[in-house]
Amino acid sequence: MLGPVHRWIWRDTERRAHKLLRFGETETDGGRDLVRASEKTSDPLLRRLYLVHAIDEHRHGEMFRRRGSALLRELSAGSNSGFQADWLAPSGHGADDLNVEEEPDDALLAFLHLSEKAAAERFTVYSHVLQDDAPTHEIFEEILRDEVFHMNYTLVQLARVSPERHRWRLWRTRLSRLWKGYLRLATAIAGLLGTVILTLQYFILLPPFAFLAKRAERREPRGWSPVDAKRNDSLNRQY
Ligand SMILES: [Fe+2]
Ligand SMILES: [Fe+2]
Repeated sequence: MLGPVHRWIWRDTERRAHKLLRFGETETDGGRDLVRASEKTSDPLLRRLYLVHAIDEHRHGEMFRRRGSALLRELSAGSNSGFQADWLAPSGHGADDLNVEEEPDDALLAFLHLSEKAAAERFTVYSHVLQDDAPTHEIFEEILRDEVFHMNYTLVQLARVSPERHRWRLWRTRLSRLWKGYLRLATAIAGLLGTVILTLQYFILLPPFAFLAKRAERREPRGWSPVDAKRNDSLNRQY
């Protein structure tokens, strides 16, 4: 349904390049978190899988960054686009930061499963709307295959480490992601409302004060004026 919107977001080459660079950062950050997760876990199989996953995310980061930089180099000087529409086309794994230090393995796997699933869904759309840009399209296709693997192994491992409670864990994580999504949306709306209200205040409340100040200025006598005799005694105090 959002196909035309995404097509529009990705059409501008400079915006596309900056988005790819940002996606690169998100992927590399994710890789770093996974290295930490592999250090922390006491499960040997999870440690191996987290490391493989971390290497994948690091590679995705490099692929996005290389393509983003290549697009920027190809760009002619005239193009400009500061608007990234990140809330409409966020990076693959979402804006939620992974709290590797405090989460137990099952919570981490539930979080990873849901964010990899979200990444796979988003990358499917991005890859589809980027068919005109073959190199970028291929990058999304290649990364998508890895994201599907990440999505699947995290679910299988979640069911293994927490056979009884894995569904409950997934629902809890889903609700927490929904809540964070709501907070992000609410913050964006509050920012927008603040801008609108301050702009309205500027144009509606300020003009009467400016008018009154101008009128008061016209009533003031010009130049020097004599000081009242009562106030004109010796200067022995400040006022
Ligand atoms: Fe990735
Ligand atoms: Fe991934």
